[in-house]
Amino acid sequence: SNPSLLILAGDGIGPEVMAEVRKVIAWFDAHGTSFDVTEDLVGGAAYDVHGTPLADETLAKALAADAVLLGAVGGPKYDVLDFSVKPERGLLKLRKELDLYANLRPAQCFDALADFSSLKREVVAGLDIMIVRELTSGVYFGEPRGIFTEGNERVGINTHRYTESEIARAARAAFDLARQRGSRVCSMEKANVMEAGILWREVAQKIRDEEYPDITLSHMYADNGAMQLVRAPKQFDVILTDNLFGDILSDAAAMLTGSLGMLPSASLGATGPNGYPRAMYEPVHGSAPDIAGQGKANPIACILSFSMALRYSFNLGDQADKLEAAVEKVLADGLRTADLLGPAGGTAISTSQMGDAIVAALESL
Ligand code: NAI
Ligand code: MG
Repeated sequence: SNPSLLILAGDGIGPEVMAEVRKVIAWFDAHGTSFDVTEDLVGGAAYDVHGTPLADETLAKALAADAVLLGAVGGPKYDVLDFSVKPERGLLKLRKELDLYANLRPAQCFDALADFSSLKREVVAGLDIMIVRELTSGVYFGEPRGIFTEGNERVGINTHRYTESEIARAARAAFDLARQRGSRVCSMEKANVMEAGILWREVAQKIRDEEYPDITLSHMYADNGAMQLVRAPKQFDVILTDNLFGDILSDAAAMLTGSLGMLPSASLGATGPNGYPRAMYEPVHGSAPDIAGQGKANPIACILSFSMALRYSFNLGDQADKLEAAVEKVLADGLRTADLLGPAGGTAISTSQMGDAIVAALESL
């Protein structure tokens, strides 16, 4: 049977961009690559119907699915809600229940958009790197944590803590990805000043030596990594790093490439029921209430999230290449949603026109 895909379109522009992904899925279905697609509610849309941003039945579907594709959640209508039922809680609960410990954030710069970068065109044109950020441990979760009283003042404490197995599983996620890409991983920590960094470096090297001899592994201090990302980002293929450094490095890398409307992401966990990794794919952007309902949203971030699912969940690298080539083609042809116009101006096409153009490009390639 076909692999299964659960679509959770969510709120705001979520359903608008997801409608364009459905067109792409339909095209692949007509050309020999099929998925069993089910759809359900998440976020505010789920709250409106169930009084909770993630119903138990929806979570059960996510746990049974081979991959989840999520649009975006949230919006001003829900800002007044109690924290326990806020749309974002639906997302957090999904990530936690699926135990998605590896967050994948690509920074890919299509040539046609290279002038959008805050860096010079020649530094970023053709850039294609992937940051793998450990997502469920490290200093954001380590104990002890809290604000305590020490003598006559207070002290704020967080603990940067990693077990060997937490490092090992994040490293394996990065090495597995590297096998689908350029076979190179650069691991970033601060082994010069942090104990968890020393262990991180040791474990990453051991996993590489014992299980991934085909992968080239290098190590870099994270502060130098930040510098190198801005100086010469094309030197990297896959970057493996912890939760804290990954938070910062992935946001910096994202801005090398331009618009929020172009950025996909994925979060991966352990092997699920049918042998695929537990996985959730989603654009980096939110529900964009300022443009929702106007046909202005750029669907490419969500379409590229589906492309990541093809590549990293289902080992369909050829299909992912084709979809990315279709995106590249429409951009090279000069087609732009409003967010991609830039100071030079021009005429914007709608969300739906962009989806149609990508499908037409798939057909023509
Ligand atoms: P946002 O990402 O929704 O929007 C930021 C700006 O980027 C807006 O001007 C928006 O119009 C523009 N933008 C975003 N995606 C775009 C696209 N595909 N095409 C064209 N323009 C696009 O972030 P914001 O405004 O901070 O948050 C809005 C709502 O989304 C809030 O309720 C927030 O909590 C939620 N949110 C949800 C996320 C998620 O579902 N993963 C992530 C970030 C925010
Ligand atoms: Mg961040």
